[in-house]
Amino acid sequence: TSVKEKLFTQVAQPKESSGSKVTIVGVGQVGMACAFSILTQNVSSEIVLIDVVADKLKGEMMDLQHGLTFMRNVRVNASTDYAATMNSKLCIVTAGARQKEGESRLDLVQRNTDIFKGIIPKLIQHSPDTILLMSAIQVCGYSYMLDILTYVAWKLSGLPKNRVIGSGTNLDSSRFRFLMSERVNVAPNSCHGWIIGEHGDTSVPVWSGVNIAGVRLRDVDPTIGTEQDKEGWKSLHKQVVQSAYEVIKLKGYTSWAIGLSVATLAQAILRNGGNIHAVSTLVTGQHGVDKEVFLSLPCVLGENGVTHIVHQLLTDDERAMLQLSANLMHEVQSKLQM
Ligand code: NAI
Ligand code: 2OP
Repeated sequence: TSVKEKLFTQVAQPKESSGSKVTIVGVGQVGMACAFSILTQNVSSEIVLIDVVADKLKGEMMDLQHGLTFMRNVRVNASTDYAATMNSKLCIVTAGARQKEGESRLDLVQRNTDIFKGIIPKLIQHSPDTILLMSAIQVCGYSYMLDILTYVAWKLSGLPKNRVIGSGTNLDSSRFRFLMSERVNVAPNSCHGWIIGEHGDTSVPVWSGVNIAGVRLRDVDPTIGTEQDKEGWKSLHKQVVQSAYEVIKLKGYTSWAIGLSVATLAQAILRNGGNIHAVSTLVTGQHGVDKEVFLSLPCVLGENGVTHIVHQLLTDDERAMLQLSANLMHEVQSKLQM
């Protein structure tokens, strides 16, 4: 008899799974920031990491496992084999390839679509009831392609639209609220504002709703966010867009903010929270968009994924900006080989 057998009398078989299992595909900067945020915020008690680079994958797994004593009881596993992901409630995809020099937008999306063909069907095969949360952000010159890749993942997965979500402008909105907080010197989560549309450069700030304690800044100053505004609040959105590029220029990539943003979305989903976040969802029929595309709008999140989209009262300009993004994205999507 082993020490274990001497120590314990088995009364029942332990359950294999915790019921809140999360898979993270890609253990790069974004994937590991997501993993670390999820672990330290007690979002899930079981994490599985997947990557194609076995050594790096094992190293990341071991490094996290060595810190488990300092967390609530969590299990961390890693494998290059998707069988380890079985019965995941949530699969977060951060894996992808960066733009090569001179590579066109379409070629980059196609290359990542081909990578997804080796990832998404395997995830669904082992976890047919899962929710997919896409955070494999692609940047080509000055345009991002997270929303297009979320559409690609939706098509490849065969899942209903509510169960495929892009991390979208949840991060852009957070950047906006941080910049707003610096202007008025209160906490970012007491500053309210929504960035919707495409993640990145062509995102749309909804100035009409920007408020602090329910006081709309547009009521305080009707020019806010316009060219006429003497205090230049409009530049906040420009800064939101530029700050991602600035971080990438300074440290090579962004990681912590996207990791925290994804962990917050994971929490809303796994705890069936009913929290509202700006995430990328199928927006056909919303705000006059007639194409099959994914864009961010405020959505109610829970165990069934996106359960509702909030009808924001947008201006004609804001609607036109969403429709323009949708048309441009649709053009790229129609050329993809899936
Ligand atoms: P990263 O390059 O640090 O990590 C990507 C990870 O994906 C690597 O560990 C790689 O081995 C893995 N991977 C590649 N193909 C895979 C496959 N078929 N199956 C499983 N794993 C695979 O990238 P990072 O920073 O984590 O970013 C995530 C995605 O976002 C990447 O596609 C990256 O190109 C893109 N991106 C990120 C930016 C950032 O600032 N973090 C900026 C621009 C693009
Ligand atoms: C970000 O906005 C690069 O999409 C990534 O931080």
